[in-house]
Amino acid sequence: MAEAHGSTAAGAAGVGLSKGDTGRGAATGSSVIAGGGTATAQGVLEVEGLSASYGPVKALDGVTLRAEQGRITAVLGANGAGKTTLLRTISGLVRPTAGRVLLNGEDVTRSPVEAMVTKGMSHVPEGRGVIAELTVDENLRVGSLFRGKVGQDEFDRVYDLFPRIKERRTSTAHTLSGGERQMLVIGRALLARPKLLLLDEPSLGLAPRIVAQIFALLRRLVDTEGLSVLLVEQNARSALSVADTGVVLNLGRVVVTDDAHRLAGDEDLRHAYLGF
Ligand SMILES: Nc1ncnc2c1ncn2[C@@H]1O[C@H](COP(=O)(O)OP(=O)(O)OP(=O)(O)O)[C@@H](O)[C@H]1O
Ligand SMILES: [Mg+2]
Repeated sequence: MAEAHGSTAAGAAGVGLSKGDTGRGAATGSSVIAGGGTATAQGVLEVEGLSASYGPVKALDGVTLRAEQGRITAVLGANGAGKTTLLRTISGLVRPTAGRVLLNGEDVTRSPVEAMVTKGMSHVPEGRGVIAELTVDENLRVGSLFRGKVGQDEFDRVYDLFPRIKERRTSTAHTLSGGERQMLVIGRALLARPKLLLLDEPSLGLAPRIVAQIFALLRRLVDTEGLSVLLVEQNARSALSVADTGVVLNLGRVVVTDDAHRLAGDEDLRHAYLGF
């Protein structure tokens, strides 16, 4: 079930998360995109009419959305809405039955997963998968093997971003807390300096304070490095507190796309689809 962990998760970390002060002025206020809207910022990711099925189950039904440069786009919806399938289809793990995926304008719809990584897309799946018997450092190094040439400076950068992971670099992964594991898998995904990060339910089961830390870090990367994030969450309240734009999915279809702040203020929509 959708569970809200706190109204200002990102703010609780004590990090400035103001959404209007970091060069994002141009498209703010024109971000209603569903139905051929007027957003002007560059779409790093454009998803057009994407459909996907598992046998007779139609999990995605003509989904259209975009993730813009230097923004966090939250995809929200209840269990079974199609959020995970959307990320898996974008990153090439599930074959779409219709529609297109464009990455920086290039049609990558049927590109293999490895090609997506080299083109700048990194997918952090749900479940925080790590190799339990290996240390934190070994997990990062194994993860880097799938991400092209990764220099030592990239490992140092990940450790700087996640000091807690640095402290635990020689611990075996099975001793990590849920939050530390989540940081490890995000750090692993950042090794290849992706332009677009796909995140599947990073907050699931974590304490509000840890969620706040993780979201604050994402906000910082987006604001300072121009990273683009597509953030899938059932935890709509926290996600909308850090996102620029929200997309609500229901039964495989986009119900609404709007500015995150406006979505959070829409009581009817919140009650109908977002669980808070
Ligand atoms: N491997 C699969 N085989 C068959 N059906 C699947 C499979 N994966 C997902 N589905 C179905 O597709 C639909 C969308 O599932 P999906 O996992 O994308 O939803 P979700 O929004 O990520 O849900 P949750 O919030 O529970 O993670 C659901 O009806 C689900 O039962
Ligand atoms: Mg899911």
